[in-house]
Amino acid sequence: MELVVLMLWCLLCGVVLKWILKNVNWWVYEAKLGDKQYSLPPGDLGWPFLGNMWAFLTAFKSSDPDSFMSSFITRFGRTGIYKAFMFGNPSVIVTTPETCKRVLTDDDAFKPGWPRATVELIGKKSFTGISSEEHKWLRKLTAAPVNGHEALSMYIEYIQDNVVASLEKWSNMGQIEFLTEIRRLTFRIIMYIFLSSESEPVMDSLEREYTILNHGVRAMAINIPGFAYYRALKSRKKLVAVFQSIVDERRANKKASIATTKKKDMMDSLLDVEDENGRKLSDEEVIDILLMYLNAGHESSGHMIMWTIVFLEKHPEILEKAKEEQEEIVKKRPSTQKGLTLKEIRGMEYLSDVIDETLRLITFSLTVFREAKRDVNISGYTIPKGWKVLVWFRSVHSDPEIYPNPKEFNPGRWKGYTPKAGSFLPFGAGSRLCPGNDLAKMEISIFLHYYLLNYRLKRINPGSPVMYLPHSRPKDNCLAKVVKCPSSHV
Ligand code: HEM
Repeated sequence: MELVVLMLWCLLCGVVLKWILKNVNWWVYEAKLGDKQYSLPPGDLGWPFLGNMWAFLTAFKSSDPDSFMSSFITRFGRTGIYKAFMFGNPSVIVTTPETCKRVLTDDDAFKPGWPRATVELIGKKSFTGISSEEHKWLRKLTAAPVNGHEALSMYIEYIQDNVVASLEKWSNMGQIEFLTEIRRLTFRIIMYIFLSSESEPVMDSLEREYTILNHGVRAMAINIPGFAYYRALKSRKKLVAVFQSIVDERRANKKASIATTKKKDMMDSLLDVEDENGRKLSDEEVIDILLMYLNAGHESSGHMIMWTIVFLEKHPEILEKAKEEQEEIVKKRPSTQKGLTLKEIRGMEYLSDVIDETLRLITFSLTVFREAKRDVNISGYTIPKGWKVLVWFRSVHSDPEIYPNPKEFNPGRWKGYTPKAGSFLPFGAGSRLCPGNDLAKMEISIFLHYYLLNYRLKRINPGSPVMYLPHSRPKDNCLAKVVKCPSSHV
């Protein structure tokens, strides 16, 4: 009898404790909103400290990452806007084209709201941490070299030479970590554009530090030895030290008026620029902007190249069609022409559909972060001032009403289809739209051109990669052999 009472007592305590824990975040964050709490979107703020992060990380490490958002839809209905507790903050997740577009384009109501841990890694003076006035000014300066016909034309030759040389090298290497090698290539390209390159060993070691940094961006922010975030902070320190030495050298050269034969690159522009009051950028500002650009400029393009090839190899009929388009381009070309032109790249209609379909299906940036500058009303719900807003691109891209059979890789769905505003957001939208979108698509197209014409991938571990939260650790890498086709066009 005593045992039964004890068990009932324990059960009751357990239920009460669970109820208390489940309501801690409500007391801390919602109760103080007064009447506004009643117009919050549906959802739940999860457990204290952890919030909904456990469910999020578990889903994105499984083979069904969309189960995270599905559980909100099942529990709270298809409202397209939900409250949650993510990355240490009370948040609202928006998941429809209309709400995503509104948040991304309404700069009066929303500002960047990246988690503090991310800002610590990418840099307080990078675009994730500066005021909107400074952002506008620095964005204009830095986006110009990677946007528009003239700017992009300058890099085609360099990209082609490096793609051709890399593919040839890999085909002689036997088994390789495919993603690691592609990332080295995309890193070399972005280093050339922004820093006029460094030596090969320096580049390889910088890229390795970036890999560790990115792993930390996507991990829990636990700054204790042994954890990914701790290692990432260490890598940031090493990256900053390398960039500081480059800044010191450039400043010393400028002071001594040592002329170099090198072209003016992004580092020079950042060192020279002055605002209307004659203010120049500090070393910290220059370094954080470069650190951010070099990261954004190679990590995502590298992953997208890998994924496009993984999908093409999985769908031989799509690969064949894409290859035929590339063969046509080579056939039509005057015999005196060496390599691709921007016009040819722009004419690759089917390949562009293949890339868009990969961008949609993978949605490399599954979400971006904003913060409400004031109380904002969206779809009849209140987003309280100071709450984070997660623009959940992934849900938009996998909505069956916009993309029928959304899990299928089907480039054909893009033929003659123009997505309506807000329904295709691989590069975001509004004032923070990815400035490297054209460069990224060009880089991926050039790579695929040479790959499709001349090489095939033999995957050694066909189960991998399963990287819905792409961390690019070696164990998630796609072990493969790059094999040269007998009827090679190069
Ligand atoms: C397939 C490749 C790429 C994807 C999927 C991608 C995706 C994105 C997305 C979604 C954003 C918006 C972030 C936000 O709204 O807060 C963004 C911003 C950004 N991207 Fe990319 N990106 C890619 C390639 C590149 C490249 C090649 C560069 C370098 C030239 C680059 C540089 C940046 C920068 C600097 C920002 C911040 C812009 C700002 O805050 O004003 N990205 N990218």
